[in-house]
Amino acid sequence: MVNHTDTSVVTIERFIVEQERLYPAATGELSGIMYDLALASKMIANKVRLAGLVDILGAKGTENVQGEAQQKLDVIANDIIVKALDHGGRLCAMASEEEEAIIPIPARFRRGKYLLLFDPLDGSSNIDVNVPVGTIFSVLQKVTPGVDGTLEDMLQEGARQVAAGYVIYGASTMLVYTTGQGVHGFTLDPSIGEFLLSHPDMRIPEHGRYLSVNDSYEALWTDEVRALIRRYRGLDGKRAAMNVRYVGSLVADFHRNLLGGGLFAYPANSKSPNGKLRLLYECNPLAFIVEQAGGAATDGSRRILDIKPTELHQRSPYYVGSRADVAIATEMLAGG
Ligand code: AHG
Ligand code: MN
Ligand code: MN
Repeated sequence: MVNHTDTSVVTIERFIVEQERLYPAATGELSGIMYDLALASKMIANKVRLAGLVDILGAKGTENVQGEAQQKLDVIANDIIVKALDHGGRLCAMASEEEEAIIPIPARFRRGKYLLLFDPLDGSSNIDVNVPVGTIFSVLQKVTPGVDGTLEDMLQEGARQVAAGYVIYGASTMLVYTTGQGVHGFTLDPSIGEFLLSHPDMRIPEHGRYLSVNDSYEALWTDEVRALIRRYRGLDGKRAAMNVRYVGSLVADFHRNLLGGGLFAYPANSKSPNGKLRLLYECNPLAFIVEQAGGAATDGSRRILDIKPTELHQRSPYYVGSRADVAIATEMLAGG
């Protein structure tokens, strides 16, 4: 006989509600942001899935796909997130990798106490070759007086994030997030349009198998960075070699390493003295997630989450993944 009270299917909505009950003081606002993000990511997943068909559908003149085909998918993803979240009354401002300035909440909508920072489509240059791409997001709480979110509100240390997550649009679409109570992963069941809990309480292995780094920059690295990467690759004989895996989509590389253990590195180089990745939209959210899963993230000398940002689009060197592997970067780059 079917036991209706003990279903093993946990939708993201049910999970969020149950998590919220752990905080008697919760107002439900953060939960609302999570619902809206889940909805936005389903809409983006649809667009990503149709990416290769845009020309065919456009030629047929169906709907307004033709118009949208002119638009880059990362701009489409950006607009989907802004429109899904600007009117909910929970945010006081947003910031996106795709937009130079802070995105205000239109005056006609109520403002809330949270700020949303996001990379709408990470790895977007991979879209044309059908490689996984993603969305990364970070939620902060307002610290300045007044109703609108300000630059000062945005420039908080990553340690002050109240939630962070990413969505990976791969063979399946997954949403992984934390609110500081562990890391939980949900897989989209496209037949019912629901994210279902598939990876509760994710933990990253202490040591990893995989090294993700773009070593075509080797000539531009410092001697310390070169020695570090040689160490990971087992070339200095001091440790077993890691296996190199580099997708070129941070979300995809990070996701694989979170599940299987490993380290992703995007070091500084002489052409990009702060590396490439953005502190607020990429480094901080994934650092919050990895720490919640038992891993670590550093810029080589500082814990990522301790860095006080000074600019919205600030970049940072980045080493993120299994705790013991990140510790080697901290040791070797600090001259230890
Ligand atoms: P985005 O598509 O959001 O601009 O990010 C691309 C990033 C990241 O996803 C990836 O890890 C990195 O760029 C790859 O850069 P390189 O090609 O320099 O290795
Ligand atoms: Mn990105
Ligand atoms: Mn992007």
